[in-house]
Amino acid sequence: MLKAKSIFKSYGQLQILKGVDLEVKRGEIVTIIGASGAGKSSLLNILGTLDRPDSGQLYIDDIELSGLNNKNLSDFRNRKIGFIFQFHHLLAEFTAIENVCIPAFIAGVSKSDAEKKAKELLELLGLADRLTHKPNQLSGGEQQRVAVARALINNPALIFADEPSGNLDSVNALELHELFIKLRKDFNQTFVIVTHNEDLANLSDRTVTMKDGLIVP
Ligand SMILES: Nc1ncnc2c1ncn2[C@@H]1O[C@H](COP(=O)(O)OP(=O)(O)O)[C@@H](O)[C@H]1O
Ligand SMILES: [Mg+2]
Repeated sequence: MLKAKSIFKSYGQLQILKGVDLEVKRGEIVTIIGASGAGKSSLLNILGTLDRPDSGQLYIDDIELSGLNNKNLSDFRNRKIGFIFQFHHLLAEFTAIENVCIPAFIAGVSKSDAEKKAKELLELLGLADRLTHKPNQLSGGEQQRVAVARALINNPALIFADEPSGNLDSVNALELHELFIKLRKDFNQTFVIVTHNEDLANLSDRTVTMKDGLIVP
């Protein structure tokens, strides 16, 4: 599903990623752990095509991504990849269902089809009664579930999450982790998750540790 080879990235003089290799199989849930500043978010942004490496190769579904221009890369991302961030980045002016629909609209899905899918996802996530609430009318856990629905609306094969339960209480965190496991079971989606949460790391198929810009054994 995903293969990264010898990924290097610097910001100015500072080398952040120093030759990262990582392979993830379809349907696998991999967690990335490591101290703050180790380069986890930088790596996730590159694996998720939000940022480009200085050198190295990234293949998703056997497509080498440095060969795509920015337009083709963003189309690819919109169709294949979902993101869940620690801070959910919901748009405050829009309702829950509108926030979830946005990636589908970008993909060219009709309003009625997008709303139908968004409603299904929000119901699956236990938010059937919150469709027309705006973010400030939702609890933190509810906002995070809206962000999860938004990440899933285009049926991405690959989902990246950066400390997705970092701002949730333990009950909401557990529910979110169980949801990831259920999605993998139901849809065979592939997850790469940066986390400090030991329970989530233990639930995953495999945990890799980053230290000083490298994956260490
Ligand atoms: N856009 C940026 N410009 C300059 N330095 C950055 C940038 N993004 C991250 N860094 C630096 O890269 C290092 C790794 O950051 P990050 O990938 O966020 O680590 P982690 O997610 O493991 O905490 C940190 O020292 C951070 O300050
Ligand atoms: Mg980080």
